[in-house]
Amino acid sequence: MPSVEGLGPRRAALQLLDAVLRRGQTLESAAGRIAGLSAPDAGLALAIAGETLRRLPDLDLLIDSATRHRLPDDSKARMVLRTALAQKIALGTPDHAVVATALPLVDGGPRRLVHGVLGTLLRRGLPRVDKPKLPAEVEKRWTVAWGTAAVEAARRQIARRPPLDLTFADDADAQAYAIEHGGISLAPRHVRLASASVADLPGYDSGGWWVQDLAASLPARLIPADAQDVIDLCAAPGGKTMQLAAAGHRVTAIDASESRLGRLRENLARTHFDAKLVEADALKWTPDRQFDAILLDAPCSATGTFRRHPEVLYRARPKVVADSVQLQRELLRRAAKWLKPGGSLVYSVCSLEPQEGEEAVRAVLADHPELHIEAPAALPSFVPVSPEGWVRILPGLLQAEGGLDGFFMARLVRAG
Ligand SMILES: C[S@@+](CC[C@H](N)C(=O)[O-])C[C@H]1O[C@@H](n2cnc3c(N)ncnc32)[C@H](O)[C@@H]1O
Repeated sequence: MPSVEGLGPRRAALQLLDAVLRRGQTLESAAGRIAGLSAPDAGLALAIAGETLRRLPDLDLLIDSATRHRLPDDSKARMVLRTALAQKIALGTPDHAVVATALPLVDGGPRRLVHGVLGTLLRRGLPRVDKPKLPAEVEKRWTVAWGTAAVEAARRQIARRPPLDLTFADDADAQAYAIEHGGISLAPRHVRLASASVADLPGYDSGGWWVQDLAASLPARLIPADAQDVIDLCAAPGGKTMQLAAAGHRVTAIDASESRLGRLRENLARTHFDAKLVEADALKWTPDRQFDAILLDAPCSATGTFRRHPEVLYRARPKVVADSVQLQRELLRRAAKWLKPGGSLVYSVCSLEPQEGEEAVRAVLADHPELHIEAPAALPSFVPVSPEGWVRILPGLLQAEGGLDGFFMARLVRAG
């Protein structure tokens, strides 16, 4: 994305949306390229883009209700109107500021039209949109896969930022922290807080905890306690590596991304844990021995993380999901060969696409008769275990407590 040096936060927000919707980037990677904005302005740009993405279909319906001819999806006028309405609905920007900051962004485009649409909608009064529609194809897909209740829950969840989950190395520390800082603990070694700036939280520098959605903390809990030699395949930035190291396993952490491994290294340094780090493409790397357990937290469409990253719902087009599925099958096939007899392979994805979860496991079991599923024993009681023995976390679980990311995980055991 070109530098947006010298441009205001609202213009930067338009560029972020363009990077996400047209070029399939993540908000985080696009935001990393914003130059020339102060930290508060960059934060505002990200907030405007994020809040726009949380309710895009509803914003479009509003816009269409006030125009005689439908504005093209990628027209400047529609993009400016989307961000202007999101500011009013989600960020409480006053009407006059919404109009005054929107019009200069139309740059030689239909300013009168944009002015007219905004005036009409603001006079009418905007709805709160606290249960936004998901993109139509996602609603269709998830209704087929998970039913209307899960889609309804997802619509409630995407409207607001999720709470902040911390994982602790030590459960007594977690319980004490929850009491001291007004959090709740929903599982051993877990504390949930209302959102806050992470680096400002007490205890960040001393490294007793790390940020990790509660659902993302579950796969490492499936690794048997007595497994000594453990691979964390696709490990960076290392939330699960730290859990495994904290549980006393000897961990080899592998990832193909140098920059993400750098973050893993920093995380280990901050939390004072140790793991052997290997920068390698797991499709080419081969270990020199077999392992007691392997955690494969595979790259995926990440659609389960839509509460934090609403853009995933626009990026996860069928081709992206199909490519992920292919990579996951190959990673599973390779990892299955690296297990000792009796060893465990825990497979997980932060995806709400059954092809990346249930179907991936069915396929590996069909190809590897030496593997079978073993239902997890050591999970918190709220976690649903299917009759097949896997765990599928859907929107709606622990809704009253703030919900969880969508996830899938299963433990496959190699015959002894
Ligand atoms: C879902 S993320 C892992 C998150 C991590 N397990 C955690 O808990 O922090 C997937 C990771 O897979 C890595 N990856 C993707 N393709 C890979 C490959 N072929 N070999 C090794 N790592 C790969 C990515 O760099 C990314 O860090």
